Amino acid sequence: MEIYKDKNFTIDDRTEDLLSRMTIEEKIGQMLQVSYNVLDKNEYENYKNLGIGSFLHVLGSEADDIRDKAAKTRLGIPPLFGIDAIHGHALLNGATVFPSQLAMSCSFNRSLIREMGRATAREVAADGLDWTFSPVLCIARDLRWGRVDETFGEDSYVIGELGKAIIEGYECDNLIIACAKHYIAYGEATGGRDAYDCSVTERKVRDIFLPPFKKASDAGCGSVMTAYGSIDTLPLTVNKRMMREILKDEIGFEGFVVTDWENIKSLVTKQRAAKDIKEASKKAVEAGNDMSMNTHEFYNCMLELVKENQIDIKLIDDAVRRILKIKFRLKLFDGKDKIDKNIIGCSEHKKINHELSRESLVLLKNDNVLPIEKEKIKKIAVIGPNADDIRAQYGDWTYFSHPEPKKHVQPKGEYYTVLRGIKETFGEDKVLYNKGCDIFGDENYIKKAVKIAKKADAVVCVIGDCLAQNGEYRDRANLDLSGYQEELVKALVETGKKVIAVLINCKPLCISYIKEHCGAVIEMFNGGDFGGLAAAELISGKFNPSGKLSVSFPQHGAQTPCYYNQYSGWHGGQYVDLQKGNVYDFADGLSYSKFEYSNLKLSRHTVPNGGAITVSVDISNTGDMDGKEIAMLFVKDVVSSVLTPEKQLKGFEKVFIKKGETKTVTFKLKTDDLAIVTTDLKYVVESGDFEIMVGANTKEYLTETLTVL
Ligand code: GLC
Repeated sequence: MEIYKDKNFTIDDRTEDLLSRMTIEEKIGQMLQVSYNVLDKNEYENYKNLGIGSFLHVLGSEADDIRDKAAKTRLGIPPLFGIDAIHGHALLNGATVFPSQLAMSCSFNRSLIREMGRATAREVAADGLDWTFSPVLCIARDLRWGRVDETFGEDSYVIGELGKAIIEGYECDNLIIACAKHYIAYGEATGGRDAYDCSVTERKVRDIFLPPFKKASDAGCGSVMTAYGSIDTLPLTVNKRMMREILKDEIGFEGFVVTDWENIKSLVTKQRAAKDIKEASKKAVEAGNDMSMNTHEFYNCMLELVKENQIDIKLIDDAVRRILKIKFRLKLFDGKDKIDKNIIGCSEHKKINHELSRESLVLLKNDNVLPIEKEKIKKIAVIGPNADDIRAQYGDWTYFSHPEPKKHVQPKGEYYTVLRGIKETFGEDKVLYNKGCDIFGDENYIKKAVKIAKKADAVVCVIGDCLAQNGEYRDRANLDLSGYQEELVKALVETGKKVIAVLINCKPLCISYIKEHCGAVIEMFNGGDFGGLAAAELISGKFNPSGKLSVSFPQHGAQTPCYYNQYSGWHGGQYVDLQKGNVYDFADGLSYSKFEYSNLKLSRHTVPNGGAITVSVDISNTGDMDGKEIAMLFVKDVVSSVLTPEKQLKGFEKVFIKKGETKTVTFKLKTDDLAIVTTDLKYVVESGDFEIMVGANTKEYLTETLTVL
């Protein structure tokens, strides 16, 4: 009886039945993933008929043909289709493009991000695909690194919470699986160098980088992706300790591990950590990789290793078992629920996108400039290289950039640059526009921009960066505004007009001048389809901004890492040639309301180890607009046997408070949340005093002391 074909049996029974029927060629075939865009036609057809486990970067229509061919193989095992749907199914022109992870993390809104994940899953599934290579759980602590935009910022707790939320969204309807990546400490590479070596101990991995992956695993994330780089010179691809022993055995991760792009080949060609692909394949599987992304030679190498009895078949069975379980979980054998293609870019998803874009915006400065009442303004000038550039506004991993860059493609979906948003909000007849300058290079139209600025009552200047300055292989040593952008801002400020700076950028930049001299500063990062409309609505007061920074802004590129949760002990506490501190800090963000914190209470001031307390605080909206406030809970371990941060986020809650109202916000804090990782890798809650700080940000908070007995 073919149990594996009968959905009345358990996933385990079906998996074991199928595994028992598979040849070694079929098993190894399941461990290979290929991308259509690196194959010649014949090779591609061969893989389709071989019945391999997975394809990536295939968009819907192509998937059907591959699926049909797989169905004709001996066991008819369906392939798994993966794609980088990392801020919506954005590689498909016409799908909803949400704000980037960095942008959306500034919303600190778990439920909205969960909704975004669910909407993305529906669009990916409607396109006939099964798996998104998202979320990125890397931590953006070195801002020179090219992939800061793909992260949820600089804090491990935020990344864990928002990673869990988006995974729940992706997987709640069982339409697709998520992929927690890149395992592990990928963004921590020395010098911010993409895919380079990082010097972190296992202790620090456990303390800072592992918690988000544990939350992802506990949330049921279907897959994890191995990072390119290396930890203390051992490539992650062959790091058995991190992958098999910690992720799989200790944490109990039940999904499967896929390498990143060509990791196995890179062991030979880039890292010189294996003499050939056969040795690389052996080491990679033994370390715990279950699927090879590309490195097609993997297939024949594994067959040779088996024939030469150089690899333990049990490892192959474990890898294939993990992959098959996901395929059964997704009902790939039983005909997945069909999703109507009209859901792609649908109005319900646009509504979620619009709301998330609004909540992701961060108002960093407002010297009584905003909001601008549209009835009271005659002319508004919109100036800057990113004012009308949807590519810059989208950021990375969209149909403009992947799977291969497309120079000339017209967006099919509805989108709003800042220019279009201002026109829609204030009325086209009131809007004057000039690009002012490019992101790079000597070409500039500053004189023309100044001329129209002088005719306006207010000036919106949209600056930042572009795709050429961000992404894989694109780390930056200099975080200043490139080209003539700062000259443009200066020229506009010198007109004496109110200048509102809107930043559209993939990462924090050095914007001291803008902070100092512009009347208002709004951070968008990469705002997706509705970023420009949301910015215009913020400027016009159509909604009350609530975003807060999930990442810090340095004064100078050399100041990175400048994250908020620093340790004590730096002699002098600053560079001799820089003022102390950052331009903007983690958790900075203004509202049109004023929120006042009072009455911080702990349910008890002493707690036995293993216990828990409730922390509560009253927040009053003393402004004249209803609004949302993100309350932050930080802790400081007053004395600890290893260095611990001056303040570490352990909770955040976003709450809506009507004008004039007061709400009580509560947090549950377990002593386990206060644990340190000792030098002998134990998770220990040391007795002693802890400062519990609750407030709006890292500078404004109330404090109470908790003693752990
Ligand atoms: C890329 C990225 C990874 C992505 C994968 C597939 O090189 O490192 O994040 O998911 O390849 O596109």
